[in-house]
Amino acid sequence: MKILLEIKDLWVEIEGKEILKGINLSIPVGETHVIFGKNGSGKTSLLMTIMGFPAYRVKHGKIIFKGEDITDLPPYERAKKGIGIMFQRPPTIKGVKLRDILKLCAKENNLKIEELAQSFGFEEFLDREVNKGFSGGEIKKSELLQLLIQNPDLVLLDEPESGVDVENMQLIGEMIKKLLQKDIHHKPRTKSGLIITHTGFILKYIAADLGYVIIDGEIYCKGNPIEIFEGIQKYGYEGCKKCLKRFNFLSETGG
Ligand SMILES: Nc1ncnc2c1ncn2[C@@H]1O[C@H](COP(=O)(O)OP(=O)(O)OP(=O)(O)O)[C@@H](O)[C@H]1O
Ligand SMILES: [Mg+2]
Repeated sequence: MKILLEIKDLWVEIEGKEILKGINLSIPVGETHVIFGKNGSGKTSLLMTIMGFPAYRVKHGKIIFKGEDITDLPPYERAKKGIGIMFQRPPTIKGVKLRDILKLCAKENNLKIEELAQSFGFEEFLDREVNKGFSGGEIKKSELLQLLIQNPDLVLLDEPESGVDVENMQLIGEMIKKLLQKDIHHKPRTKSGLIITHTGFILKYIAADLGYVIIDGEIYCKGNPIEIFEGIQKYGYEGCKKCLKRFNFLSETGG
Protein backbone atom coordinates (compact mmCIF):
# COMPACT_ATOMS: atom_id res chain seq x y z
CA MET A 1 0.00 0.00 0.00
CA LYS A 2 1.58 3.25 -1.14
CA ILE A 3 1.37 6.08 1.39
CA LEU A 4 0.59 9.55 0.03
CA LEU A 5 0.63 11.58 3.24
CA GLU A 6 2.28 10.74 6.52
CA ILE A 7 2.18 12.88 9.63
CA LYS A 8 4.57 11.97 12.40
CA ASP A 9 4.22 13.25 15.96
CA LEU A 10 3.07 16.72 14.89
CA TRP A 11 3.02 19.48 17.52
CA VAL A 12 1.74 22.86 16.38
CA GLU A 13 1.19 26.23 18.04
CA ILE A 14 -0.54 29.45 16.99
CA GLU A 15 0.52 32.70 18.57
CA GLY A 16 2.13 30.82 21.42
CA LYS A 17 -0.90 28.59 22.05
CA GLU A 18 -0.37 24.85 21.68
CA ILE A 19 -3.09 23.53 19.35
CA LEU A 20 -1.99 20.15 17.98
CA LYS A 21 -0.37 17.73 20.39
CA GLY A 22 1.37 14.81 18.77
CA ILE A 23 -0.78 13.99 15.73
CA ASN A 24 0.09 10.80 13.83
CA LEU A 25 -1.74 9.73 10.72
CA SER A 26 -1.11 8.24 7.34
CA ILE A 27 -3.24 8.30 4.19
CA PRO A 28 -2.59 5.73 1.47
CA VAL A 29 -2.95 6.63 -2.21
CA GLY A 30 -6.62 6.41 -3.20
CA GLU A 31 -8.04 6.54 0.33
CA THR A 32 -10.28 9.15 1.92
CA HIS A 33 -10.15 9.79 5.64
CA VAL A 34 -12.61 11.83 7.69
CA ILE A 35 -12.01 13.96 10.79
CA PHE A 36 -14.62 14.50 13.50
CA GLY A 37 -14.22 16.77 16.49
CA LYS A 38 -16.04 19.49 18.35
CA ASN A 39 -15.59 23.23 17.74
CA GLY A 40 -12.10 24.43 18.58
CA SER A 41 -10.56 20.94 18.78
CA GLY A 42 -7.89 21.67 16.15
CA LYS A 43 -9.34 20.26 12.92
CA THR A 44 -8.87 23.35 10.76
CA SER A 45 -5.43 23.86 12.31
CA LEU A 46 -4.42 20.39 11.14
CA LEU A 47 -5.50 21.07 7.55
CA MET A 48 -3.90 24.52 7.51
CA THR A 49 -0.66 23.03 8.85
CA ILE A 50 -0.66 20.34 6.14
CA MET A 51 -1.10 23.14 3.57
CA GLY A 52 1.76 25.06 5.22
CA PHE A 53 0.24 28.34 6.41
CA PRO A 54 2.99 30.05 8.40
CA ALA A 55 0.76 31.16 11.33
CA TYR A 56 0.64 27.47 12.29
CA ARG A 57 4.11 26.90 13.72
CA VAL A 58 5.36 23.34 13.69
CA LYS A 59 7.21 22.87 16.99
CA HIS A 60 7.95 19.21 16.48
CA GLY A 61 7.23 16.43 14.00
CA LYS A 62 7.18 15.90 10.27
CA ILE A 63 4.82 16.04 7.31
CA ILE A 64 5.82 13.63 4.56
CA PHE A 65 4.10 13.89 1.16
CA LYS A 66 4.90 11.49 -1.69
CA GLY A 67 7.89 10.33 0.36
CA GLU A 68 9.33 13.84 0.70
CA ASP A 69 9.61 15.89 3.89
CA ILE A 70 7.52 19.02 3.15
CA THR A 71 7.38 20.34 6.73
CA ASP A 72 9.28 23.52 5.84
CA LEU A 73 7.88 24.19 2.36
CA PRO A 74 5.66 27.25 1.69
CA PRO A 75 2.01 26.65 0.66
CA TYR A 76 2.56 27.36 -3.07
CA GLU A 77 5.26 24.68 -3.25
CA ARG A 78 2.91 22.21 -1.57
CA ALA A 79 0.15 23.15 -4.04
CA LYS A 80 2.55 22.51 -6.93
CA LYS A 81 3.37 19.10 -5.49
CA GLY A 82 -0.32 18.18 -5.49
CA ILE A 83 -2.02 19.35 -2.30
CA GLY A 84 -5.24 21.36 -2.55
CA ILE A 85 -7.44 22.85 0.16
CA MET A 86 -11.05 23.96 0.44
CA PHE A 87 -11.16 26.57 3.18
CA GLN A 88 -13.74 26.75 5.93
CA ARG A 89 -13.78 30.54 5.52
CA PRO A 90 -12.08 31.58 2.27
CA PRO A 91 -11.30 35.27 1.76
CA THR A 92 -12.97 37.56 -0.78
CA ILE A 93 -10.49 38.49 -3.50
CA LYS A 94 -11.51 41.89 -4.80
CA GLY A 95 -10.58 42.72 -8.39
CA VAL A 96 -9.93 39.07 -9.31
CA LYS A 97 -12.57 37.21 -11.27
CA LEU A 98 -13.26 33.57 -10.54
CA ARG A 99 -12.42 32.88 -14.20
CA ASP A 100 -8.91 34.36 -13.70
CA ILE A 101 -8.13 32.10 -10.76
CA LEU A 102 -9.51 29.09 -12.62
CA LYS A 103 -7.37 29.95 -15.65
CA LEU A 104 -4.28 29.99 -13.44
CA CYS A 105 -5.20 26.65 -11.87
CA ALA A 106 -5.99 25.15 -15.29
CA LYS A 107 -2.67 26.16 -16.83
CA GLU A 108 -1.05 22.79 -16.41
CA ASN A 109 -4.16 20.64 -16.59
CA ASN A 110 -5.65 21.80 -19.85
CA LEU A 111 -9.15 21.45 -18.44
CA LYS A 112 -12.10 23.24 -19.96
CA ILE A 113 -13.29 25.85 -17.46
CA GLU A 114 -16.58 26.70 -19.19
CA GLU A 115 -17.56 23.07 -19.58
CA LEU A 116 -16.86 22.21 -15.97
CA ALA A 117 -18.58 25.34 -14.60
CA GLN A 118 -21.59 24.60 -16.79
CA SER A 119 -21.85 21.00 -15.61
CA PHE A 120 -22.29 22.31 -12.05
CA GLY A 121 -24.55 25.22 -13.05
CA PHE A 122 -21.94 27.78 -12.07
CA GLU A 123 -21.09 29.55 -15.34
CA GLU A 124 -22.79 32.82 -14.35
CA PHE A 125 -20.29 33.19 -11.50
CA LEU A 126 -17.17 33.00 -13.68
CA ASP A 127 -17.05 36.76 -14.25
CA ARG A 128 -17.74 37.74 -10.66
CA GLU A 129 -14.98 38.65 -8.23
CA VAL A 130 -13.93 35.65 -6.17
CA ASN A 131 -16.36 35.15 -3.29
CA LYS A 132 -17.56 38.79 -3.38
CA GLY A 133 -21.19 38.69 -2.32
CA PHE A 134 -21.33 34.91 -2.84
CA SER A 135 -23.82 33.16 -0.58
CA GLY A 136 -22.51 30.51 1.81
CA GLY A 137 -23.45 27.67 -0.55
CA GLU A 138 -22.04 29.50 -3.60
CA ILE A 139 -18.70 29.91 -1.82
CA LYS A 140 -18.56 26.15 -1.29
CA LYS A 141 -19.25 25.52 -5.00
CA SER A 142 -16.66 28.08 -6.04
CA GLU A 143 -14.04 26.46 -3.77
CA LEU A 144 -14.81 22.99 -5.15
CA LEU A 145 -14.70 24.24 -8.74
CA GLN A 146 -11.23 25.68 -8.11
CA LEU A 147 -10.11 22.34 -6.66
CA LEU A 148 -11.57 20.39 -9.58
CA ILE A 149 -9.54 22.51 -11.97
CA GLN A 150 -6.42 22.35 -9.80
CA ASN A 151 -6.84 18.57 -9.72
CA PRO A 152 -4.69 17.86 -6.62
CA ASP A 153 -3.64 14.37 -5.51
CA LEU A 154 -4.44 15.16 -1.89
CA VAL A 155 -7.71 17.00 -1.33
CA LEU A 156 -8.20 18.75 2.03
CA LEU A 157 -11.84 19.73 2.63
CA ASP A 158 -12.82 21.80 5.64
CA GLU A 159 -16.54 21.35 6.29
CA PRO A 160 -17.66 21.25 2.65
CA GLU A 161 -21.32 20.93 3.66
CA SER A 162 -21.72 23.73 6.20
CA GLY A 163 -24.42 26.20 5.17
CA VAL A 164 -25.46 24.20 2.11
CA ASP A 165 -29.16 23.53 1.43
CA VAL A 166 -30.53 20.03 0.86
CA GLU A 167 -30.62 20.23 -2.95
CA ASN A 168 -27.18 21.72 -3.24
CA MET A 169 -25.81 19.12 -0.82
CA GLN A 170 -26.35 16.59 -3.57
CA LEU A 171 -24.45 18.73 -6.06
CA ILE A 172 -21.63 19.32 -3.59
CA GLY A 173 -21.56 15.56 -2.95
CA GLU A 174 -21.22 14.92 -6.70
CA MET A 175 -18.39 17.47 -6.99
CA ILE A 176 -16.51 15.80 -4.13
CA LYS A 177 -17.10 12.37 -5.66
CA LYS A 178 -15.55 13.62 -8.90
CA LEU A 179 -12.62 15.21 -7.06
CA LEU A 180 -11.81 11.95 -5.31
CA GLN A 181 -12.51 9.81 -8.40
CA LYS A 182 -15.27 8.05 -6.50
CA ASP A 183 -17.35 8.21 -9.71
CA ILE A 184 -14.87 5.96 -11.50
CA HIS A 185 -15.24 2.29 -10.77
CA HIS A 186 -13.08 0.63 -13.35
CA LYS A 187 -9.81 2.37 -12.58
CA PRO A 188 -7.63 2.26 -9.47
CA ARG A 189 -7.99 5.58 -7.70
CA THR A 190 -5.00 7.85 -7.35
CA LYS A 191 -6.63 10.67 -5.39
CA SER A 192 -6.72 10.84 -1.61
CA GLY A 193 -8.76 13.02 0.71
CA LEU A 194 -8.87 14.33 4.25
CA ILE A 195 -12.29 15.74 5.07
CA ILE A 196 -13.62 17.55 8.13
CA THR A 197 -17.32 17.11 8.78
CA HIS A 198 -19.71 17.87 11.61
CA THR A 199 -22.80 16.51 9.94
CA GLY A 200 -21.39 13.30 8.46
CA PHE A 201 -23.32 14.10 5.27
CA ILE A 202 -20.28 13.36 3.15
CA LEU A 203 -20.35 9.72 4.26
CA LYS A 204 -23.50 9.27 2.14
CA TYR A 205 -21.70 10.31 -1.01
CA ILE A 206 -18.26 8.80 -0.69
CA ALA A 207 -17.16 5.61 0.93
CA ALA A 208 -14.64 7.01 3.39
CA ASP A 209 -11.98 4.52 4.41
CA LEU A 210 -11.08 5.72 7.91
CA GLY A 211 -12.37 8.18 10.48
CA TYR A 212 -10.59 10.03 13.31
CA VAL A 213 -11.84 11.86 16.36
CA ILE A 214 -9.77 14.86 17.43
CA ILE A 215 -10.20 16.08 20.98
CA ASP A 216 -8.19 19.04 22.22
CA GLY A 217 -5.49 18.62 19.57
CA GLU A 218 -5.06 14.87 19.92
CA ILE A 219 -6.41 11.94 17.92
CA TYR A 220 -8.49 9.94 20.37
CA CYS A 221 -9.94 7.32 18.12
CA LYS A 222 -9.69 5.93 14.63
CA GLY A 223 -11.79 3.38 12.82
CA ASN A 224 -14.82 2.86 10.62
CA PRO A 225 -16.11 6.39 9.90
CA ILE A 226 -19.80 5.47 9.96
CA GLU A 227 -19.47 3.64 13.28
CA ILE A 228 -17.53 6.55 14.76
CA PHE A 229 -20.13 9.05 13.56
CA GLU A 230 -22.97 6.98 14.99
CA GLY A 231 -21.05 6.69 18.27
CA ILE A 232 -20.60 10.47 18.46
CA GLN A 233 -24.32 11.01 17.83
CA LYS A 234 -25.17 8.54 20.57
CA TYR A 235 -22.54 9.19 23.23
CA GLY A 236 -21.05 12.59 22.32
CA TYR A 237 -17.33 13.42 22.29
CA GLU A 238 -17.08 12.61 26.00
CA GLY A 239 -18.04 9.06 25.04
CA CYS A 240 -15.07 8.99 22.65
CA LYS A 241 -12.73 9.83 25.52
CA LYS A 242 -14.08 6.97 27.62
CA CYS A 243 -13.77 4.60 24.69
CA LEU A 244 -10.02 5.30 24.41
CA LYS A 245 -9.02 2.42 26.67
CA ARG A 246 -10.89 -0.01 24.51
CA PHE A 247 -9.27 1.39 21.37
CA ASN A 248 -5.78 0.95 22.85
CA PHE A 249 -6.64 -2.61 23.69
CA LEU A 250 -7.94 -3.25 20.16
CA SER A 251 -4.90 -1.71 18.47
CA GLU A 252 -2.55 -3.75 20.68
CA THR A 253 -4.34 -6.90 19.65
CA GLY A 254 -4.46 -5.82 16.01
CA GLY A 255 -8.25 -5.24 16.09
N1 LIG B 1 -4.62 33.11 15.78
C1 LIG B 1 -5.01 32.41 16.86
N2 LIG B 1 -4.71 32.83 18.11
C2 LIG B 1 -5.11 32.11 19.19
N3 LIG B 1 -5.80 30.98 19.12
C3 LIG B 1 -6.13 30.52 17.90
C4 LIG B 1 -5.75 31.20 16.71
N4 LIG B 1 -6.20 30.50 15.65
C5 LIG B 1 -6.85 29.44 16.17
N5 LIG B 1 -6.81 29.45 17.50
C6 LIG B 1 -7.44 28.48 18.44
O1 LIG B 1 -7.06 27.18 18.11
C7 LIG B 1 -8.09 26.27 18.50
C8 LIG B 1 -8.34 25.31 17.35
O2 LIG B 1 -8.94 26.02 16.28
P1 LIG B 1 -9.42 25.31 14.94
O3 LIG B 1 -9.84 26.37 14.00
O4 LIG B 1 -8.36 24.38 14.49
O5 LIG B 1 -10.68 24.46 15.47
P2 LIG B 1 -11.71 23.54 14.68
O6 LIG B 1 -11.60 22.17 15.26
O7 LIG B 1 -11.52 23.67 13.22
O8 LIG B 1 -13.12 24.15 15.13
P3 LIG B 1 -14.50 24.39 14.31
O9 LIG B 1 -15.23 23.09 14.33
O10 LIG B 1 -15.21 25.43 15.12
O11 LIG B 1 -14.16 24.87 12.94
C9 LIG B 1 -9.28 27.14 18.88
O12 LIG B 1 -9.38 27.18 20.28
C10 LIG B 1 -8.94 28.49 18.30
O13 LIG B 1 -9.52 29.56 19.04
MG1 LIG C 1 -12.60 24.50 11.72
